[in-house]
Amino acid sequence: MSTIIMTTISLSIISAAFAFLLTLADRTIGDYGEVKLVINHEKEYIVKGGDSLLSTLRNEKVFIPSACGGKGSCGYCKVQVLEGGGPILATELPFMSQEDLEKNIRLSCQLKVKEDIKIQIPEELFNVREYDGLVESIIDLTDVIKMLRIRLPKGEEINFKPGQYVQLKAPIYEGSTEEVYRAYSIASSPLSKDYIDLVIGYVPQGIATTYVHFHLREGDTVNINGPYGDFYYQDNEREMIMVAVGTGVAPILSILRYMKEMNIKRKARFYFGARTTKDLFMPDFFRELEDSLYDFKFIPCLSREPADSGWDGFRGRVNNAIDQFLEDGENKEAYLCGSEAMINSVVEALKKKGISEDLIYYDKF
Ligand SMILES: Cc1cc2nc3c(=O)[nH]c(=O)nc-3n(C[C@H](O)[C@H](O)[C@H](O)COP(=O)(O)OP(=O)(O)OC[C@H]3O[C@@H](n4cnc5c(N)ncnc54)[C@H](O)[C@@H]3O)c2cc1C
Ligand code: FES
Repeated sequence: MSTIIMTTISLSIISAAFAFLLTLADRTIGDYGEVKLVINHEKEYIVKGGDSLLSTLRNEKVFIPSACGGKGSCGYCKVQVLEGGGPILATELPFMSQEDLEKNIRLSCQLKVKEDIKIQIPEELFNVREYDGLVESIIDLTDVIKMLRIRLPKGEEINFKPGQYVQLKAPIYEGSTEEVYRAYSIASSPLSKDYIDLVIGYVPQGIATTYVHFHLREGDTVNINGPYGDFYYQDNEREMIMVAVGTGVAPILSILRYMKEMNIKRKARFYFGARTTKDLFMPDFFRELEDSLYDFKFIPCLSREPADSGWDGFRGRVNNAIDQFLEDGENKEAYLCGSEAMINSVVEALKKKGISEDLIYYDKF
């Protein structure tokens, strides 16, 4: 009997000691204390170690581009590490060129800040700001695409180039336990600095788009930060070939609105790809631009419009329309926005016409 009691007591003591050690380990391993973060040799921050570099910077209101919300799948969050940061991780390697590796470029969402670290980022990222905007209106453009107008707080402005994007925060909501950030192109003109329009399509089971389509209401506050991106209007005299499918129209809208307001005298052609007339949003707006812009043609391309619908516009994909309508690539540049597959096929079609790859700008959604 006494042996059983002794064994029970011993086991209890061992279990308690084990639990204590586990708690201690949990508190100490992963607790990196305070570390020093130095940016561009001049800005110093004392930060709590252990978080990703991307989150650590965001906590200090320094915003690095990110399209996947830190999942390591977009490759947008690259930062040059001058000192600290440890060895590069396997999850970062697929995004790194030989030059990136030589310069010690890292994915800031993958790198954990465990020691003092020195980094170099482009100066313009210090202009990226965070805003709590008011959702002034939500309009259905199609069954699955909404346009949001987000009014910035009184007295605040956003300065961006037409074509750039912001990151929108989807907070925790019923059905989602994660706070995530996603990239959305600004669809409004940069001359309107006190609000932005976003065009957001619904992705089934998508965290941010479910939030926008089913939880966000007019009058709510949303958190955004930006602007970001190197896809934007280039100021020159070349003819512009714009190609977009679905929500890829958003940055093109911004560019066209800007051209109209600035009365820019450039030849421009816009190929808008959609499946049916139901997916072709704002057609009247684009048709009106044929009158109000200097030399503009709107070319809607429908890939799955029923044969008997009476549609007398182009039937087929945007790359087929380029094969058919674009004469040559002489003195032309292109702006493409949409899925990777669409971009790849359009780049091929444009190259066949003689447009050189460095004059083809795109954002892959
Ligand atoms: C520079 C840039 C600008 C962008 N601008 C816009 C914009 O103006 N409007 C807009 O609607 N989107 C835009 N996007 C896409 C956007 O950032 C999100 O990726 C998209 O809204 C899905 O987010 P989510 O959180 O709802 O889906 P997630 O929770 O990230 O994804 C859920 C699942 O859906 C898959 N998935 C994600 N996107 C798609 C898709 N498009 N089609 C099919 N499956 C998908 C994912 O692989 C995942 O399996 C842009 C992306 C980039 C990189
Ligand atoms: S890879 Fe997308 S944020 Fe880092």
